[in-house]
Order: sequence, then structure tokens, then C-alpha cells
Amino acid sequence: MVRILCFSVVFLLFTICLITKVYSRYEFSNVKCECADKKFCEVEYCYIKSKNRTYKYISLKIKLHRIPLTKIKTNFALYQRLNGYKPFLYNVTIDACKFLKSPTSNPVASYFYNFFKDVSNLNHSCPYDHDVLLDKLTAESILHRVTNILPFPKGNYMFEMDFYMYNIKQIVFQLYASIS
Ligand SMILES: *[C@@H]1O[C@H](CO)[C@@H](O)[C@H](O)[C@H]1NC(C)=O
Ligand SMILES: *[C@@H]1O[C@H](CO)[C@@H](O)[C@H](O)[C@H]1NC(C)=O
Ligand SMILES: *[C@@H]1O[C@H](CO)[C@@H](O)[C@H](O)[C@H]1NC(C)=O
Repeated sequence: MVRILCFSVVFLLFTICLITKVYSRYEFSNVKCECADKKFCEVEYCYIKSKNRTYKYISLKIKLHRIPLTKIKTNFALYQRLNGYKPFLYNVTIDACKFLKSPTSNPVASYFYNFFKDVSNLNHSCPYDHDVLLDKLTAESILHRVTNILPFPKGNYMFEMDFYMYNIKQIVFQLYASIS
């Protein structure tokens, strides 16, 4: 626990020190949702919608077939594109059910959770006994968090979130985006 906290604080400081400039464009380039085993889950939809130049969002729905879910492990990692996508700053594995009981206990996980908690039905404690929904996560709300709350250097990024159910990797979510 102490190790995770120190790790988080060092990285937060490192990120803040790294950046002196604020950027103004955040573009989604791709989103992928995959389900390893159809017996557990199925992707109903997972897409980027561009209404106009400024209003773009992601929506997804994943059906869960083995519910209620009481044991979920999540790994999320950020990659930056250099020569291919390379791990960048964050690689965190958490017990999602434990985290959801007190989201402030892990500052890094909490930072990423706040990106989607208001537009997802995952924003409650375990068990999960329903499909997973993300409804209109806008590029604008992400831009706000990556420029104002914890600034990131400009570049191309991939954010990946893996969900392990009963210790088997079942859902892989990947978001490709650029900050310029
Ligand atoms: C983009 O679409 C949104 C939602 O339909 C609308 O509120 C906004 O005014 C539009 N912006 C432009 C520049 O057309
Ligand atoms: C994240 O860490 C885990 C375990 O420490 C490792 O297996 C995995 O490859 C790492 N992923 C990235 C993107 O560095
Ligand atoms: C959870 O998300 C829903 C929208 O899907 C929102 O109405 C609700 O306020 C959120 N609850 C919490 C605790 O953030």
C-alpha cells in the first residue's frame, strides 16, 4: 500500500514537472472493445461518434453473461506512441471491488476513474449484476482533465484497461487519442 502511494506521488510530481505548456486539442482516433470469451461477455457496441468538429464522444455497451460479478481485477496502462506504443508513466493493477468501496484510497486509479464515472453505470460498489454502459464520454471532458487537472505532454496516446473476472482476462478496452 505504502509502495503504491509513493509510486503514485512520484509519478504525479514527475508528470507535473514534465509539462509547462497547456494544449488545446484532444482527438479520439480509435476505440476498441474486446471480449475474450463469449460465455462471459459480448460487445454490443463500442464506437466514436463525431457530431461536429467539437462534439465527439465514445459510447459502449458490453453484455455480461455471468452475473453477479463480485471479483474484478483491473489493469490500466498508458502508452505513448514513439516507435510503436511504449508504456508511459502509468501501469496500475487494482482490485476493482476494493477500490470502488473507497475511490479516494488510490489517487492514480481515482484520477482515471473520474474520467468516466459520471457517464458510466460502473460507478457503484460491487457486485455488478448488469451490462456495462459508457454513455457519451466526450473528448471535451477528457481534454479538460488532461490539460487542467493533470497536464500531459502533447503526443499520441493509447489508454488500455483490462478487466479480469475470476482471474481471467475477459475485457480489453483501448482508447487511441492525440493531444496537440
Ligand atoms: C456541435 O453539436 C452540439 C450537439 O449537437 C451542439 O450543441 C454544438 O453547438 C455544435 N457545435 C458546432 C460548432 O456546430
Ligand atoms: C504492467 O505491469 C505488469 C506487472 O507488473 C506487467 O506484466 C505488464 O507487462 C505491464 N504493462 C505495461 C504496459 O508496462
Ligand atoms: C453514476 O453515473 C450516472 C450516469 O450513468 C449518474 O447519473 C450518477 O450520478 C453517477 N453516480 C455517481 C455516484 O457518480
